[in-house]
Amino acid sequence: MPSVVLANDHGAVELATIFDDYLKKIGYEVNYLGVKTNDSVDYPDMAKAACEEYKKGGYDFGILLCGTGIGISISANKVEGIRCALPQNSYAAAMAKKHNNANFIAFGGRINY
Ligand code: RB5
Repeated sequence: MPSVVLANDHGAVELATIFDDYLKKIGYEVNYLGVKTNDSVDYPDMAKAACEEYKKGGYDFGILLCGTGIGISISANKVEGIRCALPQNSYAAAMAKKHNNANFIAFGGRINY
């Protein structure tokens, strides 16, 4: 079964639930390390937890979510071995995997996609 680590801060609780539900529905095992309330947390902590978990092995990729996706992707990209993309659209998302070998992808819960 494909496996994903997913984490979010308080800026993307609803989006995290959407990802969690959808990924499970299409057959992914999801290790959900995010928060489920609007209580404020620090996005670098969430990024670090997910990246360290990913580096243990066994995951296909990771997903990080914050209000914009910006802070949590910047934080993830400070972790050795992590290449986190913050794609502008589906083309960029596909290229992030194909051309950049991204192992994490970030989105913003407060962004209108
Ligand atoms: C939290 O309020 C917000 O700053 C955070 O989710 C993110 O958007 C930072 O980049």
